[in-house]
Amino acid sequence: MRLRPFVFVSVYLLVGYCSALNPCAPRKFNQDSVVCVCNTTYCDDFEPIGVVPNSGVGAQFTSSRDGFRFMKTNITTTNSVPANAVILSFNPTVRHQKIFGFGGAITDAAGINLNSLPPDLADNVIKQYYSYPNGIGYSTARIPIASCDFSTHPYSYSDVDGDFNLTNFNLTTEDFTLKLPYLKKALTYTNSTVRFFGSPWSAPGWMKETGLMRGGGPLKGPVNGQYYQTWANYFVKFIQAYMNQGIQIWGVTLQNEPNTGRALDFPWQTMYWNASMQRDFLRDLLGPMLDQNFIWGVKKIILDDNRGNLPDWADTILADPNAAKFVDMIGVHWYEDETKPASNLNDTYYKHPGVPMLYTEACAGWEGDERYPLLGNWTRAEQYADDILTALNNYVTGWNDWNIVLDVPGGPNWVGNTVDSSIIVNANTSEYYKQPLFFAMGHFSRFVRPNAVRVNSQLASSNPSLEFASFVNPDNTRVTVILNKDDSNTYKLAVSDVTKTSVYYVIDVPPKSLTSLVV
Ligand SMILES: *[C@@H]1O[C@H](CO)[C@@H](O)[C@H](O)[C@H]1NC(C)=O
Ligand SMILES: *[C@@H]1O[C@H](CO)[C@@H](O)[C@H](O)[C@H]1NC(C)=O
Ligand SMILES: *[C@@H]1O[C@H](CO)[C@@H](O)[C@H](O)[C@H]1NC(C)=O
Ligand SMILES: *[C@@H]1O[C@H](CO)[C@@H](O)[C@H](O)[C@H]1NC(C)=O
Ligand SMILES: *[C@@H]1O[C@H](CO)[C@@H](O)[C@H](O)[C@H]1NC(C)=O
Ligand SMILES: *[C@@H]1O[C@H](CO)[C@@H](O)[C@H](O)[C@H]1NC(C)=O
Ligand SMILES: *[C@@H]1O[C@H](CO)[C@@H](O)[C@H](O)[C@H]1NC(C)=O
Ligand SMILES: *[C@@H]1O[C@H](CO)[C@@H](O)[C@H](O)[C@H]1NC(C)=O
Ligand SMILES: *[C@@H]1O[C@H](CO)[C@@H](O)[C@H](O)[C@H]1NC(C)=O
Repeated sequence: MRLRPFVFVSVYLLVGYCSALNPCAPRKFNQDSVVCVCNTTYCDDFEPIGVVPNSGVGAQFTSSRDGFRFMKTNITTTNSVPANAVILSFNPTVRHQKIFGFGGAITDAAGINLNSLPPDLADNVIKQYYSYPNGIGYSTARIPIASCDFSTHPYSYSDVDGDFNLTNFNLTTEDFTLKLPYLKKALTYTNSTVRFFGSPWSAPGWMKETGLMRGGGPLKGPVNGQYYQTWANYFVKFIQAYMNQGIQIWGVTLQNEPNTGRALDFPWQTMYWNASMQRDFLRDLLGPMLDQNFIWGVKKIILDDNRGNLPDWADTILADPNAAKFVDMIGVHWYEDETKPASNLNDTYYKHPGVPMLYTEACAGWEGDERYPLLGNWTRAEQYADDILTALNNYVTGWNDWNIVLDVPGGPNWVGNTVDSSIIVNANTSEYYKQPLFFAMGHFSRFVRPNAVRVNSQLASSNPSLEFASFVNPDNTRVTVILNKDDSNTYKLAVSDVTKTSVYYVIDVPPKSLTSLVV
C-alpha cells in the first residue's frame, strides 16, 4: 500500500518520545487504552529490532496502557546495578522447550472482514501479522476445515447423503474467496515458512448419529467402521484440495473441542470424541492414511481442547505405542485457564516430554456480559500476555489467537457467538483498528522467533506484579518478555545474562506494560 510519511503528534505519544517512522495513530473509545488506526493513507509501522548479539547495545520495546506501542529504547550495558534496581537474571545454558511459533486463525469471518476493506488495506493486515521483521512475524495459521461458528451458515465439503467415496467432495466458495487468498498472502509474507494447520468442527451431517452438523454427537457406527473410514478420507481430500490450490497443510488437529460434542444441543457445529476414540481412529485410520498419502508428513495434533483434559487425554492416547507413533503435538485451548491449573501443562510435559504442547485457540470477550470487542481495552491484552507467559513457563511451545480479524460487533458468526479480536475492521470508514491484543501477541511473535529456546530466568526479589520469561533466538539474540500488571509503579530492572559477569541492561518497566528486551 502507498503510505505517505506523516507527521503526527498525540497526547499519548508525548508521554515518551517515539521515533517510529509512522507512529501509532491512537484513537480512544470508552476504554482505558487506545487502538492504532490504519486507513488507506496511513498506518503505523514498527521500529527495526536492529540488535547485534553481544554488541553491548540492546533494544527495549514497550507497549503500555498509557499509550506506548512497541516504543523502542536503545539500552547500553552498564557494569553496576543501580541502587533502586532489581536484578532479573537469565541463564542461556539452562535450556527448556523449543518454540514452535505464534499465529492466528484465518476463518470465514476473517475473510469476510478483510474483503470488506479496500484491497491494499486488507493486504496490509496480513503483512502486519505475517511479515518479519517489519510485521509481528506470525509463523502459524489455523484453518477451519469447512465451516465453524465464524461462518455465515453450516456447510461441509460433501453434503450429499451416503457419499462414502466422497465423489462429491469439493471446496466451497468460502475457501476460494475468504480463506485461500489470505492464506496465499501469509505464504508470501513468510517466504513460505508459515505452518498451516487445519481443524474440523464437524463432519457432514449425514455421517453423524444426529444427522446434523450443528450440535454434538459422534460419527455413526464403530470407530473402525465405514463412517470413520470416510471421515479419515475426508481429511485426505481436504489436504489434497488445498495442495491443488498451492497451500501445503503442515498439520491437522483431530477435532476442534471434542468435549463440546457431548452436548447434542450444542449451539454450533461440533462432534464428539473421547480420548480412546481419538486413539483408535488415529492408530487405525487417520494416522496410516495421512502418512501413506503425503510424503511431507502431515503432523497430527491431539486434543485441541481445554487444559482441564490434561494430562489424562494425552495419557490415554500416548499409552498405546501404535497410536503414540502418530502423535506430533498436543493442542490446547485457553477457555479453562482461569479455573484449571497451569500445573496440568507442566505435568503433561513431565509425563510426555517428547510431545510438544501448542495453544491452538484463544480469544478475549468470550465470557461474561461483554462478549464482543472492547476497543482499546488494556486488561484483555494483559490477559493474553499473562496466559502466554504462564503457558511458555509451563513448557508450551507456541500460542495461537482465534480469528485474526473481526468486525466491530465481533463477528460475523452465524449463531451470534461474537468475541474480541486483535484486529477489528470498520468497513464503513475503511479503517482497521490494531487492538492492545495485537501488541500483546506481537511482544511474543515478533521477538521470540520459531526455534528459539526458553531458558531459565529469575528475579532477585519476587514481585507479584511482574511476570517474565527468557529465550535464546536462533540468531543468538536473547529476549526477555516482561509483563508489569501494577497499576502505578514503574520498576527498574537490571537484566543480566549470568554467563557474563558485571554486564547489566538497566530498563524501566512502566505500570500496566509489556516489554520485550532484546540483547
Ligand atoms: C476491559 O476488559 C475486561 C475483561 O474483559 C473487563 O473486565 C473490563 O470491564 C473492561 N474494561 C472496560 C472499561 O470496559
Ligand atoms: C488516515 O489517517 C490519518 C492519520 O490518522 C488521517 O490524517 C487521514 O485523514 C486518514 N485518511 C482517511 C482517508 O481517512
Ligand atoms: C538505536 O540504535 C540504532 C543502531 O543500533 C540506531 O540506528 C538508532 O538511531 C538508535 N536509536 C536511538 C533513539 O538512539
Ligand atoms: C466406492 O468405491 C468402491 C471402489 O471403487 C466401489 O466398489 C463402491 O461401490 C463405491 N461406493 C459408493 C457408495 O459409491
Ligand atoms: C469444485 O468447485 C469449483 C469452484 O466452485 C468448481 O470449479 C469445480 O467444478 C468443482 N468441482 C466439482 C467436482 O464439483
Ligand atoms: C523473507 O525474506 C526476506 C528477504 O530475504 C527477509 O527480509 C524476511 O525477513 C523474510 N521473512 C521471513 C518471515 O522470514
Ligand atoms: C470413550 O467412550 C467409549 C464408548 O462410550 C468408552 O468405552 C470409553 O471408555 C471412553 N473412554 C474414555 C477415556 O472415557
Ligand atoms: C513441574 O513438574 C515437575 C515434576 O513433577 C516438578 O518437579 C516441578 O516443580 C513442576 N514445576 C512447576 C513450575 O510446577
Ligand atoms: C456501519 O453502517 C451500518 C449502516 O449504517 C450500521 O448499521 C453499522 O452500525 C455501522 N457500523 C459501524 C461499526 O459503525
